[in-house]
Amino acid sequence: MRVIKSISDVKEFIKGIKATGKSIGFVPTMGALHAGHIALVNRATSENDFVVASIFVNPIQFNNKEDLEKYPRPISEDIHKLEEVACDLLFFPGVNEMYPEPVVDKYDFGQMDKVMEGKFRPGHFNGVAVVVRKLFEIITPDRAYFGMKDFQQLRIIQTLTSNLNLPVDIVPYPTVREKDGLAMSSRNVRLNEKERMIAPVIYKVLCGIREKAGKVTVKEAEEWAVSRLNKYDEINVEYISVVDAVTLLPVTNWSDAESLVCCAAVMVGKIRLIDNVLIF
Ligand code: PAJ
Repeated sequence: MRVIKSISDVKEFIKGIKATGKSIGFVPTMGALHAGHIALVNRATSENDFVVASIFVNPIQFNNKEDLEKYPRPISEDIHKLEEVACDLLFFPGVNEMYPEPVVDKYDFGQMDKVMEGKFRPGHFNGVAVVVRKLFEIITPDRAYFGMKDFQQLRIIQTLTSNLNLPVDIVPYPTVREKDGLAMSSRNVRLNEKERMIAPVIYKVLCGIREKAGKVTVKEAEEWAVSRLNKYDEINVEYISVVDAVTLLPVTNWSDAESLVCCAAVMVGKIRLIDNVLIF
């Protein structure tokens, strides 16, 4: 696998690949790779001639300094994992390479970035949109792969791509989970033993909401979920919200949208975890 840090070098290299008529699949990440990331790379490999992954812990999408500083960065393990699945190229730029000038771009996704993660992490999706657009311009992929684990991020990227007519297909990928149901996340390694034991309850409760759909009101289901989770001293619920899977706006009735998703953000100790399940 080639590892390239400079934007001009990677652009030159990609130009050569494109000249041979190869299709390019792209998996943007922040590293600390787990089986969820690797599943995206495998999917990209099966659908493209050439696969690029990127690792860049994007400072402008963090609204919490400690979260940014403590974000795991096991680069040699990551390179090894990518080599194992025959990823062709890793783009691994530094912060000064990506942001030599102060970032001034501002995106407005209407209501979509005002709810859930957008509400609790102000500026987060602007930072995601800036970096993803920049990465798309550098890598010029035919297809880019995004996990449904970050459902709101996926919708924001789909909107960005569609509104700007970016020439890339966005491919969603289902959430990869540990055996006990916990959604894989680079932050899971920061949970202590007790927190790690408790954390799978998030997915259980989300599945519980799906089972209650149509039987109790949306509000009752959400309140049930919050009270189940808050029984644990280690857990603090930020939000659990049943939303329209397209607009991401909260619904009051199960029949308010064609497709619903239930999203949650939960503090387990000091670690913030997010997860979601599709209701229908
Ligand atoms: P990161 O959290 O590293 O995730 C990279 C990609 O892997 C995202 O598309 C994410 O949704 C996907 N992913 C993470 N955990 C997953 C799981 N358990 N199952 C399936 N897919 C999973 O998301 C980001 O990085 C950044 O915001 C980024 C898009 C790279 C922009 O900086």
